[in-house]
Amino acid sequence: MLGQTAQLRYDFPFLVRTDSLSFRNVSLADAILFTLTVTLAWFISSSVCQYFRLRHFDGPLLAKISNLWLFSSVNSGRSYLDFWQVTQKYGTIARVGLNDLVTDDPAFVKHMCNVKTEYRRSSWYDGMRFNPTSNNCLSTRDEIAHSALRSKMAAGYVGRDVDNIEPKIDSNIRDFMRLLGSYADKKTPVDLGRKVQYFTLDVISDLAYGAPFGFVETDTDVYEYIQTTEKNLPMVMVVTVFPWLLTLLNSPVLKGLLPSTKDRLGFGRIMSIAKDVAAERFKLDVNDARDMLASFIRHGLTPTEAESEILLQIAAGSDTTASAIRSTMLQMCSNHDILHKLRREIASADIAGDIISDNEARKLPYLQAVIKEGLRIFPPIAGLMSKEVPPHGDTWNGVFIPGGTRVGYSIWAITRREDIWGADALEFRPERWLNNSPEKVKEMESTLDLIFSYGRWLCLGRTIALIELNKILVEVCS
Ligand code: HEM
Repeated sequence: MLGQTAQLRYDFPFLVRTDSLSFRNVSLADAILFTLTVTLAWFISSSVCQYFRLRHFDGPLLAKISNLWLFSSVNSGRSYLDFWQVTQKYGTIARVGLNDLVTDDPAFVKHMCNVKTEYRRSSWYDGMRFNPTSNNCLSTRDEIAHSALRSKMAAGYVGRDVDNIEPKIDSNIRDFMRLLGSYADKKTPVDLGRKVQYFTLDVISDLAYGAPFGFVETDTDVYEYIQTTEKNLPMVMVVTVFPWLLTLLNSPVLKGLLPSTKDRLGFGRIMSIAKDVAAERFKLDVNDARDMLASFIRHGLTPTEAESEILLQIAAGSDTTASAIRSTMLQMCSNHDILHKLRREIASADIAGDIISDNEARKLPYLQAVIKEGLRIFPPIAGLMSKEVPPHGDTWNGVFIPGGTRVGYSIWAITRREDIWGADALEFRPERWLNNSPEKVKEMESTLDLIFSYGRWLCLGRTIALIELNKILVEVCS
């Protein structure tokens, strides 16, 4: 074997192998030293090239010469604040890594994400592959495949051929209010933040596959889903900025660290539920069923796609809405005047059933202002969601951005821009949505909508999230 290998010739000028030189003469230490030297030389030269490619963008020094700044920011769990500060300090397009920029310019975000854009999802989205072995709509970067997937699910998500979105949410609200009532009866404190997560997880599982997980009914973290997700989320965020880690984690040695359908608890358990549900549904005739999964299948989703999309619904549709409810409730608890104003509006509203309908809620101006302000002050998704500049590059406001650069956006910075929201942008003040001119409100609304992304990649669950917010805030605040 060694004899055969010794016949090989290498092209490196400083390591020309000749037939006279055998591997037997090269010690292991030499080989390791050589490998390290080559790796270091490659690393330094590629870092220098990368540095020069984007040298016209300012940012923290460490971010200009390495990815360490980005790594430590994302790993700290405070990156949403770092990205905001960076855009304030270094300008509206700032550098946060060797190949990474971040912007707080809403017009630029719309330019990158509009339906005709030449930008594409960057490798950031590889980290969104919740099932390590298959893509979902959110992690799909190939635009043809992504559009095809979206079109199979659009009708289900907007409720066009689904009958039961509102009744299902109502039924979960009743269970949730009963749970809160039981704490009130016992006069024991309740962790509202955690119970809200239980609520949104039950709603989304009910909508996704026809039955709530049972978080509210059992008043427990079923399958330790929340605990595991909270533990693993920082790792997921690190993978979004260093996607090559995914390849490493998928290697036979480290694969055991990833969730698997064989797990009894955590995300792996949810994966196995999604698998069973999808398999079951494909055995049935779903032509007449009127729920989301049936709609997806009717529009051509395959069993493997269905499995991944159920998982995506749960991952993308629970913590996001829970964050919006929790942060808005926190603001209401800390601003009694606002809470009382909302209560007065609800008390005088025309509500036909025991739970307000989505239509009725949309007619309450102060409620709508509170919801928008809650989403503005705490946008639930604050990751970079970077898009890749087309190969020929792009010019924005006279500045050239080389092809292949990853450009993310700081939603935290966008929703705090004083030129859009006013000098009191840091304050929770629903009145800003009611007392400004129609043109200003229009500008604010179209900027706020970026919390759900935009155009080609607009959140598919936006309608559902807003229905949930409309209903639950009325129930909890009244
Ligand atoms: C307030 C709550 C929510 C917010 C702020 C939010 C925000 C977002 C954002 C920013 C994206 C990323 C789009 C991109 O740039 O690629 C997204 C994607 C997505 N969201 Fe939401 N979301 C929310 C609730 C939901 C809910 C309740 C569901 C499910 C019922 C959902 C399902 C999805 C799906 C399926 C995608 C992938 C869309 C695509 O790839 O084309 N979201 N969402």
